[in-house]
Amino acid sequence: MADDTLIWPSKLHHLCITTGQRSKMIEWYRDTMGLTPEDTDNGMTWMKGSQRNLLLQDGEAGEAAFIGIAVANTAHLERLRIHVEAENIPTHPLTSPMFRDSSFAITDPDGHRVLFGLPKNSLGSLDPKPGCLQHVVFATTNLERIVSFYTDKLGCKISDIVREEDTGDQTACFLRTDEMHHTLAFFRAPAIKLDHFAHEATCWNDIRDWGDHFASHHVEIVWGAGRHGAGNNLFIFVRDPDENNVEISAELETLTFDQKPRYWPHNNRALNLWGHAWLRS
Ligand SMILES: [Fe+2]
Repeated sequence: MADDTLIWPSKLHHLCITTGQRSKMIEWYRDTMGLTPEDTDNGMTWMKGSQRNLLLQDGEAGEAAFIGIAVANTAHLERLRIHVEAENIPTHPLTSPMFRDSSFAITDPDGHRVLFGLPKNSLGSLDPKPGCLQHVVFATTNLERIVSFYTDKLGCKISDIVREEDTGDQTACFLRTDEMHHTLAFFRAPAIKLDHFAHEATCWNDIRDWGDHFASHHVEIVWGAGRHGAGNNLFIFVRDPDENNVEISAELETLTFDQKPRYWPHNNRALNLWGHAWLRS
C-alpha cells in the first residue's frame, strides 16, 4: 500500500488531446472556451487560458495523449518520483511545454500517460468566463484494476463508489487528490477511452452564463442541466468538433483527507439527482 499522502495535494493542470482536424478544434476552443492558440516548439497547439489549458496534437480524435497533474512543490515531486521508481511503475519520456523540466510521466494499466510536474509561470490572459480545468474521467474495461493502481500505487483517495445493488459489482469510482471530490474518475464500459473532462465554475449563475454563451455559438447542451449525485455538482455537457464531452460544473463537493469511501447504487440518481442519467454500462 502506498503512503496515502503520496499524491496529496495535487490538481489536474492540463491535458493533451489528439485530433485529426486541428484547425477546427483550435477555432472551437478559441471561440467557445475563450482560449488563445499558441504554437509550441514540439509541434503542438497550446490553447492557452489562465484557469484552463489544453494541448492539441495530431492523432486519432477523442484520445488523451496525456494528462498533466500539478503537484505541490519540488519536494513533493521528488518524493513521488522516488516512489514511482521504487514501485517499478512504467514511466514514459514525454514532456509538456507547460511544466518545468523536472516533470516525469508514468503509464497506467489502461495505457493513459500521467505527467507529474510543476507549472511554469506562463499562464494566458484572464479567461472570459470562469471555469478551472478540474477533473478528467476515463471509461475502463477493468475498473478494479485501474482503481487499485491509483489508490494502492499512487495514494489517491476514494470519494464515492457506484455499484450494482444485486451483485455489488462496481460501475464507477471517483478519486480525489486534494479536497475536491474528484480529480479523476473511472466508469466501467465496453472500451477504454476518454469519457469527459470538466471545468469547475464558481456558481450556478456561471452555468446559466455558459449556457447562454454556448447558445450564441450554436453549441447544443447534450446533457443537463442537472446535479450529479456523486460529487453533488451542478453540470452541463457540450461536445467539441471531435465529439469530446466537455463539462461545465459548479458546487463540486469538497471532502476531508480522512473521509472514507461512500457508496451509491447504480441508478440514475448516482449520476443525476434531477433526472435522466447517462449510464456508461
Ligand atoms: Fe464530470
